[in-house]
Amino acid sequence: MPAKRKILVTSALPYVNGSPHMGHLVEYLQTDIWVRFQKLRGHDCIYVCASDAHGTPIMLKARELGITPEALTEGYAAEFANDFRDFGVEFDNYHTTHSSENEALVTEIFTALRDNHDIYTKTIEQSYDEKEGMFLPDRFVRGTCPFCKTEDQYGDACENCSKTYTPADLIDPVSVISGTTPVRRESEHYFFRLSDYGDRLRHWMNDAALDKNVVAKLEEWFEAGLQDWDISRDAPYFGFRIPGTEDKYFYVWLDAPVGYMASFKNLCERRDDLEFDDYWRPGSDAEVYHFIGKDIMYFHTLFWPAVLQGSGFRTPTGVFTHGFLTVNGQKMSKSRGTFIKARTYLDNLNPSFLRYYYAAKLGPTIEDIDLNLDDFIARVNSDLVGKLINIASRCAGFISKRFDGRLAESLPDATLFNEFAGASETIATHYERREYSKAIRLIMALADRANRYIDDNKPWVIIKDEDRLGDVQLVCTQGLNMFRSLMIYLSPVIPAVAEDARTFLSEDRWLWKDASSPLLDATLPKFKPLLTRVEPDQVQRMVEQSRESTPVPEAASKNQTISIDEFTKVDLRIARIEKAEAVDGADKLLALTLDVGDATRQVFAGIKAAYDAQSLVGKYVVVVANLAPRKMRFGVSEGMVLAAGPGGEDIFLLSPDDGAEPGMRVK
Ligand code: 2FM
Ligand code: ZN
Repeated sequence: MPAKRKILVTSALPYVNGSPHMGHLVEYLQTDIWVRFQKLRGHDCIYVCASDAHGTPIMLKARELGITPEALTEGYAAEFANDFRDFGVEFDNYHTTHSSENEALVTEIFTALRDNHDIYTKTIEQSYDEKEGMFLPDRFVRGTCPFCKTEDQYGDACENCSKTYTPADLIDPVSVISGTTPVRRESEHYFFRLSDYGDRLRHWMNDAALDKNVVAKLEEWFEAGLQDWDISRDAPYFGFRIPGTEDKYFYVWLDAPVGYMASFKNLCERRDDLEFDDYWRPGSDAEVYHFIGKDIMYFHTLFWPAVLQGSGFRTPTGVFTHGFLTVNGQKMSKSRGTFIKARTYLDNLNPSFLRYYYAAKLGPTIEDIDLNLDDFIARVNSDLVGKLINIASRCAGFISKRFDGRLAESLPDATLFNEFAGASETIATHYERREYSKAIRLIMALADRANRYIDDNKPWVIIKDEDRLGDVQLVCTQGLNMFRSLMIYLSPVIPAVAEDARTFLSEDRWLWKDASSPLLDATLPKFKPLLTRVEPDQVQRMVEQSRESTPVPEAASKNQTISIDEFTKVDLRIARIEKAEAVDGADKLLALTLDVGDATRQVFAGIKAAYDAQSLVGKYVVVVANLAPRKMRFGVSEGMVLAAGPGGEDIFLLSPDDGAEPGMRVK
């Protein structure tokens, strides 16, 4: 076992202007597994994270909602923190970039860089929205691609032909915020002289722990030549003001990675055993690793190490980069119900399942990983529940019922147990290298071996022979010990299940090395099942709850109008509710049978929280009668009932007055 290491680990700081989803979880679960593994090995490993609270999108979203950016980001930060906790992601500290520690550190870094002549100012021209009185980031300008002429493209790159350009190159550019045509306007910006850092960065790259794909990408960037980096933004901006200026702010991407340090600093204030400088100054004997997604490699492997080099701090030991998540082989999609929020998952399924599934798929490369929902059900049921948990279920009952919970004093097959103990370092190496899928494969092969042992020794048969009772105790002690070793190996992945297993085995704590010595002659409490199978229904319900069956039409989302011709296509009619009943397995839906005048229709409406089914019978409602039938999980819906309100219990049916009759047109 290597000597005790000092390790600081981070995950990318999430923007807190939306809810956490399954894509976010890839990174936080990958990191959490690694950190838990290091702690289990006995190392001093600290895991910090924070909310990334600054920048234009956050400022604009808060403005749109009529709240302060602080209120917006605090609200979402609480959501992130709750979801992380419920998925078992255990930070040593979760802070925010909008903090006094971060402001002090960014200012220190900026001042050091400026004193080193690494900062200069230059006047540049940018798109400016005169109506809103603000400069527009490239993504806030849309227009026609100058190359392939595809309409409605972002100001930085075309989604059709993939060419990159500036907003000034777009044909007919429009500000996304006000819908007006932006003008070009000059402003003075602060630049960081990244172009001077080529040699130092190459040096860092050669020493750092980086995946070979990342190194290849870096080589490409070196080849293309490093460009100086614009680190300032004009007011209005949500961020930290640049010292000595009235209306210039640090670009969010300067203070975001500094947020790693700030979160750690905030932790140091509460922990006597941690010194900020021990981890962040040159000569530090600590290892620092950043887990990130492949889309933010440039920031973490060029800007960030260069900024640290230029300002008197140490550089990261490694940057661990993962790919994106696809669901059922495709980009997550709201209409397919595969844009699944972390909370929607938690409402339906056990978080250990996802931790296990992601681990079974994760490796150390930037390849994307796929959450295939059928494969998810199959793997969880066959491997996790069917193979692993089953080992304990097959042995524990005999021990508790026939031996007062007492384990035998020795193992009947020490050689077999040694196979499990002997796998310890190979599995550890897989975890260390983030080869989680390899670790899981090896653990599951051992689970197969354990099940074979139980099949061969048949405790359920020999229990019938009074003379062989002792053998049953031995076989089950062997089985439970193999289960125990595997649970220790899996505890970084499924900590909650491992904790229940440890409690059942009446042990106070586990370290990695405990997997190599058996637990004997101990008394165990009654065994409770540790996990039950995933039912396809649970997954289906999660997808249904994630599906946005009525996406906001393009036109409406942009505050555009529809023509009277388009409006008259909508057949709005009064309908009488003939029958209303709850739908099995659907929390929000009522199945309504509607008399629409010339026909009877079945329509599913998400109004169960607001209306008691019986109270609706005989009521009149307004319905869109010519909506194409939609196949839902519970049947086909042949229309849509109109209602208003924010949702949940506050939904109000648009009930026409009593003089209404089924089939009447609504004008
Ligand atoms: O891409 C993102 O979601 C950023 N909020 C990540 C920031 S990571 C670090 F630099 F803070
Ligand atoms: Zn194009």
